[in-house]
Amino acid sequence: MFIYEKKLQYPVCIKKPDPRMAAAIISQYGGPDGELGASLRYLSQRFSMPHKEVKGLLTDVAVEELGHLEIVGAMVYQLTRNLNEEQIKKAGFDAYFTDHTQGVYPQAAAGFPYTAASMAVKGDPVTDLHEDLAAEQKARTTYENLLLLADDPDVIDVLRYLREREIVHYQRFSEALGIVREKLDERNFYAFNPALSLK
Ligand SMILES: [Fe+2]
Repeated sequence: MFIYEKKLQYPVCIKKPDPRMAAAIISQYGGPDGELGASLRYLSQRFSMPHKEVKGLLTDVAVEELGHLEIVGAMVYQLTRNLNEEQIKKAGFDAYFTDHTQGVYPQAAAGFPYTAASMAVKGDPVTDLHEDLAAEQKARTTYENLLLLADDPDVIDVLRYLREREIVHYQRFSEALGIVREKLDERNFYAFNPALSLK
Protein backbone atom coordinates (compact mmCIF):
# COMPACT_ATOMS: atom_id res chain seq x y z
CA MET A 1 0.00 0.00 0.00
CA PHE A 2 1.17 3.49 -0.77
CA ILE A 3 0.25 6.85 0.67
CA TYR A 4 0.20 9.64 -1.89
CA GLU A 5 1.42 13.07 -0.87
CA LYS A 6 0.12 15.73 -3.23
CA LYS A 7 3.39 17.56 -3.74
CA LEU A 8 6.64 16.73 -5.49
CA GLN A 9 9.53 15.40 -3.41
CA TYR A 10 11.56 18.33 -4.79
CA PRO A 11 9.94 21.42 -6.35
CA VAL A 12 10.06 21.95 -10.13
CA CYS A 13 9.51 25.58 -11.23
CA ILE A 14 10.79 25.92 -14.80
CA LYS A 15 9.78 29.22 -16.38
CA LYS A 16 11.47 28.95 -19.80
CA PRO A 17 10.32 26.33 -22.33
CA ASP A 18 13.13 24.26 -23.83
CA PRO A 19 11.86 21.36 -25.97
CA ARG A 20 15.40 20.27 -26.86
CA MET A 21 16.19 19.74 -23.15
CA ALA A 22 12.83 18.02 -22.63
CA ALA A 23 13.68 15.52 -25.37
CA ALA A 24 16.88 14.65 -23.49
CA ILE A 25 15.39 14.59 -19.96
CA ILE A 26 12.60 12.21 -21.09
CA SER A 27 15.24 9.47 -20.92
CA GLN A 28 15.14 9.61 -17.14
CA TYR A 29 11.37 9.06 -17.39
CA GLY A 30 11.33 5.96 -19.58
CA GLY A 31 14.86 5.34 -20.82
CA PRO A 32 17.15 2.40 -20.02
CA ASP A 33 18.48 3.97 -16.78
CA GLY A 34 15.41 6.03 -15.95
CA GLU A 35 13.24 6.32 -12.87
CA LEU A 36 10.42 4.05 -14.13
CA GLY A 37 12.83 1.15 -14.58
CA ALA A 38 14.46 1.88 -11.21
CA SER A 39 11.19 1.81 -9.29
CA LEU A 40 9.97 -1.36 -11.05
CA ARG A 41 13.32 -3.09 -10.51
CA TYR A 42 13.33 -2.53 -6.75
CA LEU A 43 9.58 -3.14 -6.29
CA SER A 44 10.00 -6.46 -8.11
CA GLN A 45 13.24 -7.56 -6.45
CA ARG A 46 11.90 -7.04 -2.92
CA PHE A 47 9.65 -10.12 -2.95
CA SER A 48 12.50 -12.63 -3.06
CA MET A 49 14.89 -10.69 -0.80
CA PRO A 50 15.26 -12.91 2.27
CA HIS A 51 16.39 -10.26 4.80
CA LYS A 52 13.68 -7.95 6.04
CA GLU A 53 15.91 -4.89 6.48
CA VAL A 54 17.08 -5.16 2.84
CA LYS A 55 13.53 -5.87 1.65
CA GLY A 56 12.49 -2.68 3.47
CA LEU A 57 15.31 -0.73 1.82
CA LEU A 58 14.32 -1.94 -1.66
CA THR A 59 10.73 -0.83 -0.99
CA ASP A 60 11.81 2.57 0.36
CA VAL A 61 14.08 3.27 -2.61
CA ALA A 62 11.47 2.01 -5.09
CA VAL A 63 8.89 4.42 -3.70
CA GLU A 64 11.38 7.28 -3.79
CA GLU A 65 12.16 6.46 -7.44
CA LEU A 66 8.43 6.73 -8.20
CA GLY A 67 8.61 10.19 -6.64
CA HIS A 68 11.54 10.96 -8.97
CA LEU A 69 9.52 9.72 -11.95
CA GLU A 70 6.92 12.32 -11.01
CA ILE A 71 9.61 15.04 -10.77
CA VAL A 72 11.07 14.14 -14.19
CA GLY A 73 7.58 14.09 -15.72
CA ALA A 74 6.91 17.57 -14.28
CA MET A 75 10.21 18.79 -15.80
CA VAL A 76 9.31 17.48 -19.26
CA TYR A 77 5.81 18.96 -19.03
CA GLN A 78 7.04 22.39 -17.92
CA LEU A 79 9.76 22.48 -20.58
CA THR A 80 7.25 21.84 -23.37
CA ARG A 81 4.14 23.79 -22.36
CA ASN A 82 2.82 26.67 -24.48
CA LEU A 83 5.07 25.98 -27.46
CA ASN A 84 4.18 27.25 -30.91
CA GLU A 85 4.77 25.29 -34.14
CA GLU A 86 7.88 27.31 -34.95
CA GLN A 87 9.54 26.47 -31.60
CA ILE A 88 8.63 22.80 -31.99
CA LYS A 89 10.22 22.61 -35.44
CA LYS A 90 13.29 24.68 -34.56
CA ALA A 91 14.12 22.59 -31.50
CA GLY A 92 13.82 19.27 -33.32
CA PHE A 93 10.86 18.35 -31.09
CA ASP A 94 8.65 17.58 -34.09
CA ALA A 95 9.17 13.77 -34.00
CA TYR A 96 8.07 13.53 -30.34
CA PHE A 97 5.25 16.04 -30.91
CA THR A 98 3.87 13.96 -33.79
CA ASP A 99 3.38 10.93 -31.56
CA HIS A 100 2.64 12.43 -28.15
CA THR A 101 1.76 16.14 -28.55
CA GLN A 102 2.45 17.52 -25.04
CA GLY A 103 1.90 14.22 -23.27
CA VAL A 104 4.68 12.74 -21.12
CA TYR A 105 5.46 9.31 -22.53
CA PRO A 106 7.97 6.79 -21.09
CA GLN A 107 10.65 6.64 -23.74
CA ALA A 108 14.41 7.03 -24.08
CA ALA A 109 16.04 10.16 -25.51
CA ALA A 110 16.77 8.03 -28.58
CA GLY A 111 13.01 7.55 -29.08
CA PHE A 112 12.43 3.90 -28.18
CA PRO A 113 9.67 3.22 -25.63
CA TYR A 114 10.26 1.96 -22.10
CA THR A 115 11.18 -1.70 -22.04
CA ALA A 116 11.49 -4.00 -19.03
CA ALA A 117 14.41 -5.58 -20.90
CA SER A 118 16.55 -2.76 -19.54
CA MET A 119 16.20 -4.05 -15.95
CA ALA A 120 16.77 -7.39 -14.26
CA VAL A 121 15.31 -9.39 -11.38
CA LYS A 122 17.43 -12.47 -10.73
CA GLY A 123 16.06 -13.61 -7.37
CA ASP A 124 19.50 -13.93 -5.81
CA PRO A 125 20.23 -11.27 -3.19
CA VAL A 126 23.92 -10.83 -4.08
CA THR A 127 23.21 -10.70 -7.83
CA ASP A 128 20.26 -8.33 -7.49
CA LEU A 129 22.17 -5.92 -5.25
CA HIS A 130 25.07 -5.83 -7.72
CA GLU A 131 22.54 -5.01 -10.44
CA ASP A 132 21.20 -2.21 -8.25
CA LEU A 133 24.65 -0.76 -7.55
CA ALA A 134 25.37 -0.64 -11.30
CA ALA A 135 21.93 0.82 -12.01
CA GLU A 136 22.49 3.66 -9.56
CA GLN A 137 25.85 4.49 -11.16
CA LYS A 138 24.27 4.45 -14.62
CA ALA A 139 21.52 6.80 -13.43
CA ARG A 140 24.16 9.10 -11.90
CA THR A 141 26.08 9.19 -15.20
CA THR A 142 22.89 9.98 -17.12
CA TYR A 143 22.10 12.90 -14.80
CA GLU A 144 25.68 14.14 -15.25
CA ASN A 145 25.25 13.96 -19.04
CA LEU A 146 22.02 15.94 -18.73
CA LEU A 147 23.79 18.51 -16.53
CA LEU A 148 26.36 18.99 -19.30
CA LEU A 149 23.53 19.75 -21.76
CA ALA A 150 21.55 22.04 -19.43
CA ASP A 151 21.99 25.80 -19.09
CA ASP A 152 18.83 26.92 -17.26
CA PRO A 153 19.45 27.21 -13.46
CA ASP A 154 15.86 26.03 -12.81
CA VAL A 155 16.64 22.80 -14.64
CA ILE A 156 20.17 22.39 -13.28
CA ASP A 157 18.96 22.71 -9.68
CA VAL A 158 16.53 19.76 -10.01
CA LEU A 159 18.99 17.60 -11.98
CA ARG A 160 21.61 18.12 -9.26
CA TYR A 161 19.15 17.00 -6.60
CA LEU A 162 18.24 13.86 -8.57
CA ARG A 163 21.92 13.07 -9.21
CA GLU A 164 22.66 13.33 -5.49
CA ARG A 165 19.88 10.90 -4.64
CA GLU A 166 21.43 8.29 -6.97
CA ILE A 167 24.65 8.56 -4.98
CA VAL A 168 22.74 8.11 -1.72
CA HIS A 169 20.95 5.05 -3.14
CA TYR A 170 24.29 3.60 -4.24
CA GLN A 171 25.61 4.00 -0.69
CA ARG A 172 22.50 2.42 0.82
CA PHE A 173 22.73 -0.57 -1.55
CA SER A 174 26.44 -0.96 -0.64
CA GLU A 175 25.41 -1.21 3.02
CA ALA A 176 22.69 -3.70 2.06
CA LEU A 177 25.23 -5.87 0.25
CA GLY A 178 27.31 -5.86 3.45
CA ILE A 179 24.28 -7.07 5.44
CA VAL A 180 23.61 -9.87 2.95
CA ARG A 181 27.27 -10.96 2.97
CA GLU A 182 27.34 -11.06 6.77
CA LYS A 183 24.34 -13.36 6.80
CA LEU A 184 25.64 -15.73 4.17
CA ASP A 185 27.38 -18.89 5.08
CA GLU A 186 30.77 -18.80 3.32
CA ARG A 187 30.02 -22.11 1.65
CA ASN A 188 26.88 -20.62 0.12
CA PHE A 189 28.38 -17.34 -0.97
CA TYR A 190 27.88 -17.74 -4.69
CA ALA A 191 24.84 -19.99 -4.41
CA PHE A 192 22.45 -18.49 -1.91
CA ASN A 193 19.54 -20.60 -3.12
CA PRO A 194 19.10 -23.15 -0.25
CA ALA A 195 18.35 -25.92 -2.75
CA LEU A 196 21.78 -25.41 -4.31
CA SER A 197 23.63 -25.29 -0.98
CA LEU A 198 22.48 -28.71 0.25
CA LYS A 199 25.29 -30.55 -1.55
FE1 LIG B 1 18.15 5.81 -7.51
